Amino acid sequence: MPQQLTGSTAPTAGPKRAAESATEMVQVVLPNDANPLGFILGGTVMHLIDIAGAIACHRHTRTLLVTAAVDGLQFLHPIKVGDMIILKARVTAAWSTSLEVEVEVFSEETLTGLRRMTSRAYLTFVSIDRDGRRIPIPTLILETEEEKQKAHDADRRRAERLKARKELESRCEQVGR
Ligand SMILES: CC(C)(COP(=O)(O)OP(=O)(O)OC[C@H]1O[C@@H](n2cnc3c(N)ncnc32)[C@H](O)[C@@H]1OP(=O)(O)O)[C@@H](O)C(=O)NCCC(=O)NCCS
Repeated sequence: MPQQLTGSTAPTAGPKRAAESATEMVQVVLPNDANPLGFILGGTVMHLIDIAGAIACHRHTRTLLVTAAVDGLQFLHPIKVGDMIILKARVTAAWSTSLEVEVEVFSEETLTGLRRMTSRAYLTFVSIDRDGRRIPIPTLILETEEEKQKAHDADRRRAERLKARKELESRCEQVGR
């Protein structure tokens, strides 16, 4: 008989805590990921952010997802070949069919253990089925003051994103005419 998933990643349609879907990814930076200066490529970091964020959101929704938006991204420090890149992803808010995830990126020097935050990103994913229809997602249980504050901030970012989307849509319509 196939083994049933249990514990934090078990599928459930009910409300979920952020801790149940929190995800940490660690990877060593290899020469293939780097620019000629020996630092990880920004595009590689963006790819890893998308993956870490998507995993946390999949663990929350247990549905198919598409990326709807990625907020402005900054790279504070380079990460060298041979050092580690660590990504911590945590769902901050879940609405009807969409959810926001915060992804924090750190570098860790292999020889000293020195860890520094290099980026923080917010991504929005939308839950869909195979025909592209939106699927309602579990609500997010907010337990701590920090989680409540993060969800409050996420609401504000969502409003800004939807406004930006509207503006882009109307610009695209004008270009299409
Ligand atoms: C994202 C997408 C599914 C939204 O479809 P849509 O028909 O415009 O959806 P709606 O306007 O009905 O919005 C659906 C949900 O997404 C949210 N949403 C849509 N666009 C958003 C954006 N730019 N930022 C934040 N949230 C967004 C809405 O707020 C809504 O959330 P809610 O149900 O929790 O309230 C659609 O635009 C799409 O498929 N885009 C391409 C996605 C893609 O290819 N990504 C890269 C590869 S995965």
